[in-house]
Amino acid sequence: MKTKSDKSLKSFHTFGLDVLAREIIEVQWPEDFLTLWQNPSYLSTPKLILGEGSNLLFCENFQGVIVLNRLKGISILETEQHWHLHVAAGENWHELVSWTIGHGMGGLENLALIPGLVGSAPIQNIGAYGVELKERCEYVDVLFIASGKTVRLSAAKCEFGYRDSVFKRKLKYKTIVVAVGLKLSKVWLPMIGYGALAKLAEGGKVTIRAVFDKVCEIRRNNLPDPHTIGNAGSFFKNPIVSVALVRKIKETYPTIPYYNTGGGKVKLAAGWLIEQSELKGFCVGGAAVHSKQALVLINTGEATSKDIIKLAKHVVDTVYQRFWVKLEHEVRFIGAARETSLEAVCQR
Ligand code: FAD
Ligand code: EPU
Repeated sequence: MKTKSDKSLKSFHTFGLDVLAREIIEVQWPEDFLTLWQNPSYLSTPKLILGEGSNLLFCENFQGVIVLNRLKGISILETEQHWHLHVAAGENWHELVSWTIGHGMGGLENLALIPGLVGSAPIQNIGAYGVELKERCEYVDVLFIASGKTVRLSAAKCEFGYRDSVFKRKLKYKTIVVAVGLKLSKVWLPMIGYGALAKLAEGGKVTIRAVFDKVCEIRRNNLPDPHTIGNAGSFFKNPIVSVALVRKIKETYPTIPYYNTGGGKVKLAAGWLIEQSELKGFCVGGAAVHSKQALVLINTGEATSKDIIKLAKHVVDTVYQRFWVKLEHEVRFIGAARETSLEAVCQR
């Protein structure tokens, strides 16, 4: 365990906001988590596990310990039909994806360039370009904080959903992800149904590398690089609404994009709703709606947490007034001691 002398969180989250923690501790071994959680001097101190901070917004200074997950190690078991990867939670997700592609293992290429760590991937069941982690995840190893036991949860037990899992609900604050098991089939099936990826089929034989390169190209073109422009990816989830509501919206907006999710429900594109609300480029202080991808809120340089919160509230209200659709944030809102929400911070 290493305690950082610096208390600034600026370089530990991708929004790049100037916020502080009371303490920042780096953890290299699973046992270190227990040592910290059981240490009497930290018992009543709020603790937050952080990967690369690419899916959260610090709403204010954090009055507790930020625990940086830095568990390392990858092992592979090869069978006739699969590669089984056991990956420690602190490995970087994109480096893992690139490594599998370099070794001719397909399955993760659609999930290239998603920022963050492997241990954070199951928390919101990361997804992109028609693939979600749940389709490649075999198990998640978690440390139960109260008992100190490490338990292997099958993918089914993780209750994965769209940007959702058991770790955001029943197991929140109770477990720490220490490793993830991935199962990659040796029979590779390209997943190229999504928009621009479909064009790959026109050029003849599709390869794992070609899908990986295309995904990287699309992402580099559409999404701001957090190393240069602070952001946390899609700020809001794509809302799932009733077919009846879409019919109503279609009377005024006949070209609205939507995807049937079954059971009389439809997924709308939040980026489209925000763009149609004429909010692309809209600014509050140093925060702005990204001019290329309206679903991303950015820090133009000097944004404060308050700027981003005010902007997010304005986006939610404006979209609601125009479309009767209430956007929910995907980005996790972190308060002084624990997780909070846009609604809660706006009521204060
Ligand atoms: P963090 O932000 O550090 O943590 C996220 C949450 O998980 C926090 O609540 C944290 O406390 C908790 N947590 C972290 N590690 C652990 C652990 N070991 N045990 C228990 N809890 C833990 N997401 C997608 O799904 N698809 C995308 O295409 C996508 N694109 C993105 C593009 C950009 C430019 C950015 C900035 C983000 C994007 N994201 C995307 C969101 C983000 O990359 C993912 O959610 C990622 O998995 C977050 O990883 P992280 O390590 O940064 O997690
Ligand atoms: N759109 C607009 N204007 C915009 C942005 C999008 O009209 O400014 C329209 C597009 O034209 C398209 C639709 O909205 O018709 C969907 O856009 P896109 O394909 O870019 O995907 P998205 O819904 O904006 C989602 C995920 C991303 C993921 C991509 C690719 C969510 C909340 N976001 O974005 O995930 O990378 O699909 O699969 O589900 C993230 O979670 O942080 C993230 C970046």
